[in-house]
Amino acid sequence: MSDQVKMTAMNYAIDRPKAENPVKVMDLTFRDGHQSLFATRGRTEDMIPVAEMMDEIGFWALETWGGATFDTMHRFLNEDPWERLRILKRYIKKTPFSMLLRAQNLVGYRNYADDLSTVFVERAAENGMDIFRTFDALNDYRNFETVVKQIKKSGKHFQGCICYTLTEPRLGGEVYNLDYYVNKAKDLVSMGADSICIKDMAGLIAPYDAYDIIKAIKAITKIPVHLHSHFTSGMASMSLLKAIEAGVDIVDTCMTPYAFRTSHPAIEPLVMTLLGTNRDTGFDIKKLAHINEVLEKEVMPKYKHLLDDSKVSTIDINVLLHQTPGGMLSNLVNQLREMDAMNKIDDVFKELPRVRKELGQVPLVTPTSQIVGIQTVNNVLFDTPEERYKMITAQVKDLCYGLYGKTAVPIDAEVQKKALKGYSRGETPITCRPAEVIEPELEKAKKEVGDLAKDIDDIVLYGIYPVTGKKFLEWKYGVAPAPPEVMPITLEDVKKRDELVAKAKAGKLIEPKANAPEKSANVRTFNVFVDGEYFNVDVDPTGDFQPMVAAAPRPAVAAPAAAPKAAAAAPAAAPKAAAAPAAAAPKVAVEGGTPLVAPMPGMVVKNLVNVGDAVKAGDPIVVLEAMKMENNLGSPCDGTVKQLCCGTGDSVAKDTVLAVIG
Ligand code: CO
Repeated sequence: MSDQVKMTAMNYAIDRPKAENPVKVMDLTFRDGHQSLFATRGRTEDMIPVAEMMDEIGFWALETWGGATFDTMHRFLNEDPWERLRILKRYIKKTPFSMLLRAQNLVGYRNYADDLSTVFVERAAENGMDIFRTFDALNDYRNFETVVKQIKKSGKHFQGCICYTLTEPRLGGEVYNLDYYVNKAKDLVSMGADSICIKDMAGLIAPYDAYDIIKAIKAITKIPVHLHSHFTSGMASMSLLKAIEAGVDIVDTCMTPYAFRTSHPAIEPLVMTLLGTNRDTGFDIKKLAHINEVLEKEVMPKYKHLLDDSKVSTIDINVLLHQTPGGMLSNLVNQLREMDAMNKIDDVFKELPRVRKELGQVPLVTPTSQIVGIQTVNNVLFDTPEERYKMITAQVKDLCYGLYGKTAVPIDAEVQKKALKGYSRGETPITCRPAEVIEPELEKAKKEVGDLAKDIDDIVLYGIYPVTGKKFLEWKYGVAPAPPEVMPITLEDVKKRDELVAKAKAGKLIEPKANAPEKSANVRTFNVFVDGEYFNVDVDPTGDFQPMVAAAPRPAVAAPAAAPKAAAAAPAAAPKAAAAPAAAAPKVAVEGGTPLVAPMPGMVVKNLVNVGDAVKAGDPIVVLEAMKMENNLGSPCDGTVKQLCCGTGDSVAKDTVLAVIG
């Protein structure tokens, strides 16, 4: 046994003496847990049944907010994110709340202006936040300056993160070695951090590397050190234990139903592992078991359909092979699937480290993981042997300009030059703190949202998420009805759904007709997947048999950002498909003009031109958001804008006609 962890006595039951140096534990069930396993779909009403019991355990903190919760709640759950804090505070009175703050990215995907950032932190503190776990995707701490000033002013705890990333299979190499992490820790100490967190968002940290890093940081500071790791690769439970042996002060875990897979180690095995040692958590394992029982019976049935059960393995060894974070990997797979390009996955794995290096060897964490990932997909799908980086996303241009901050190594000069050609802020990258070139945006947001916002929290929500935030405020104040898919489901609904699936499995979903026709020679067999269940269906065309041809564009796949308006958007692309036999959508005959089609499924952010404008080939016409990255789509030819087919907020399928130039 390590010199740091000692057995003090055997056979301790519940009433055991307090350990000499108990490990403090933060629970992530209410934030990273459901974010990792159920696409952040956890509802406040499903946290309430266990909230008071969670408050009794003795956690150092409960992570309740931040990361993707703010986005998902207003976009998909029709819940006011601010309200969650206020509600949970009514049930959880003793244990502090922690949030994940993306530094100047707040809870969004770009750096916001100083005025909006300051008000956001002020409002979060006012609504009940106690600990601000702050990280910057580039580990550029100039992006901490504004928010930290306000965290301190609000009298709250500033936890500074070092995003853990690798370029080699294990700690080391030229960039991300032990010195890098120790130096970052020193920077955080000098910024006045109240604690330091090693944030291993991808589950990359190996147990002995965790030991070395914690030892090295503990040697330079007395500030508490915290380890956050994901179970993705299967190493996290071992890494927590080695970190505890090295003297880590705080670790992160989840309640069992929310643990493992791409989430975090579970708390109960850790409690038992440390029982009776000088690092004993002191937690009552029976109380934890009781919480688990409530979660299992009353909460999990509503979410189990969101669990990815397509694989038997609970760990993903791709992380060990490619250092690709689990969440990023599933985004890439989704993106490729929507483009019918799953056969390109190996090319993506090959291109990814190259793109990452060219873009400054950035850590892979939101938003840089998406920025690198989507650019990689774009390169694999659209590049030609003669030309790389054919379609550069707006976010890559921003990164090249310096708008996210300083990268670990310089960005490839050629890529940078190409990305910044014609860039609206200028072709010469900046070297200052990024927010210094971002114009104030609070007043602008206030003016734009107008009467729809009733208080400052509404304005901040709109400021961070103008398109979806506006939609949410319309639902909130009854200006527009909330669509059924954002409404909660009940255990009764779950029961009905399970019955239907059982019926389908038994082949009883449709009662067989007495006079069913014989199967013809044209019968085709399809595999149908429902909630991970799999059915074999024979389809026999009736009437004149036509060979299958590529017809109208597929309706938008239910991508996270594309669900609500997919049905409404599809017809815009469909009309003339029938008249053009066997034509895929790009070739749809558009009278007197050339169509600009969506090269990928996504959401229209805005049209950049008006009908009647004269444009040249390549001029930006439409901004299309795909997988949260914005792409400027250029005119296919010289001419005049004849038609703009979609508006802001429309979700479109791949190949949807967005504009007609003639
Ligand atoms: Co995490």
